[in-house]
Amino acid sequence: MRQIIVGNWKMNGTARLAAGQAEILREAAPGLVCDLVLCPPATLIAALVARLAGSAIGVGGQDCHSAASGAHTGDIAAGMLAEAGARYVILGHSERRADHGETDAMVRAKAAAARAAGLTPIVCVGENEAEQLAGRAEAVVVGQLAASLPEDFSGTIAYEPIWAIGTGRTPTPEDVIAMHRAIRACLAERFGVAGRAFPILYGGSVKAANAREILALPEVGGALVGGASLDPAEFLAIARAARPPDR
Ligand code: 13P
Repeated sequence: MRQIIVGNWKMNGTARLAAGQAEILREAAPGLVCDLVLCPPATLIAALVARLAGSAIGVGGQDCHSAASGAHTGDIAAGMLAEAGARYVILGHSERRADHGETDAMVRAKAAAARAAGLTPIVCVGENEAEQLAGRAEAVVVGQLAASLPEDFSGTIAYEPIWAIGTGRTPTPEDVIAMHRAIRACLAERFGVAGRAFPILYGGSVKAANAREILALPEVGGALVGGASLDPAEFLAIARAARPPDR
């Protein structure tokens, strides 16, 4: 399977950045051995989709509501993202869990809504620093997975240790391997054959300088990239570090 490199712009980016990224990535994409997905702020989704038309580069949202419509000021429904041309949606990012009090149950409902709208959910899990230091990382992540995925889940998981986000720190390759194997075991146990195939991405301070080492790990299905995705040259360098799919 091809690795997936997802850019999470968070609350950054302008129409100008979108235009520049689209031009550079469109040109480079056919020569890459991985798939690309860009998740800009919702206001830029339609413009980015238009600029990427005819390319294989996907566009995604950064969150959605669990309801299809209604009195939820400031929220966005999965169907609205789909109508704007998005094919993916990041859910349960640690920043949303922290800033907006999102619980596993809410993420689970959002993931179900995303599927119903035809979007591929990218569900984020990851331990904080205290949990990591206490040796509880795996238990925390396994618990989040169990409670954040709906029964009919189909999509992508992103393992993002909170202490690695925006800090320049990353887990050792051994720790990434161990956590990705633990996640895979949960998915396989719960979802059978399908669970063996859901991509598991790594996220947290992925840069051009460390991408090759992380993406070389066979357990890693791709990367969820924050800060480095705002620089088209850096993002492209990460994509170029992807491991070719097994034949
Ligand atoms: P950074 O790549 O900036 O550490 O962010 C990771 C992240 O949160 C992606 O969702």
